[in-house]
Amino acid sequence: MRNHRLDVQPIAGAMGAEVLGVDLSEELDEPTFGEVHRALLDHGAIFFRDQDITPSQQMAFAKRWGSIHLHPHMPCLPDHPGIIEVVKKETDVHTFGGNWHTDQMFTPTPARVTMLYAKEVPEAGGDTAFANLYMAYDALSDGMKAMIADLRTISLYDKKKKRAATMKPTEPENDPEPAEHPLVRPHPETGRKALYISYEGITRHIAGMTEEESRPILSYLMNHATRPEFTCRFRWRPGSMALWDNRRVLHLAINDYNGYRRVMHRITVEGERTL
Ligand code: SIN
Repeated sequence: MRNHRLDVQPIAGAMGAEVLGVDLSEELDEPTFGEVHRALLDHGAIFFRDQDITPSQQMAFAKRWGSIHLHPHMPCLPDHPGIIEVVKKETDVHTFGGNWHTDQMFTPTPARVTMLYAKEVPEAGGDTAFANLYMAYDALSDGMKAMIADLRTISLYDKKKKRAATMKPTEPENDPEPAEHPLVRPHPETGRKALYISYEGITRHIAGMTEEESRPILSYLMNHATRPEFTCRFRWRPGSMALWDNRRVLHLAINDYNGYRRVMHRITVEGERTL
């Protein structure tokens, strides 16, 4: 396969692109990595098809983006610290990641990039949806932009979330520490402003306001941010790899395949402090 000058093909009007001509089992040279990085900044989520990679090769690629962000509550593969096996079995009803969110927003240095590699997928269903938070911010009225400009949000780990039975989080010993983030987050690399928010189980309230006061504003912003015209949807095949930029996209695992099995390998790369 070629190792530079990529073919990048958008998959929807709002965001997301397939990147052709890259073999992720090989170490990418600097110009090729630079182009992949550019594609991620431009499209928010990028997708590679027909990859045949080992956990070690996935980890080597992940480390090109920064330090691995260990999820504080989800166990990793025994031989590969940093890789979470996201499994939904035929008998599971709930899924992992089944609400709109941006990864590990309940920590002070939430994930920068997430990398998800498909091992086993149902014949149909189990797509992942993404939403473009630059577009969501840009489409707000000037009045709303002014009102939320300096607000901060308080996020917490969602202990009550129903996950696939196989995905058992370790119980936090103490109540999780809240994490504070700006509601409007300038992207650390592009400078563009994005809404920065997750579903109500994580983004609990606006700093200085009660949950009751905050909820109408946060619900409005979540509904707005996930309008279909701001989204794309990726259909997996075994060997597909997705990378997304959590600093400016939301994502959601669509739970429409009860009775079928889906297995993915997930790595997150640590991001910057937001404040
Ligand atoms: C996640 O939320 O990280 C998982 C998404 C998926 O399984 O599609």
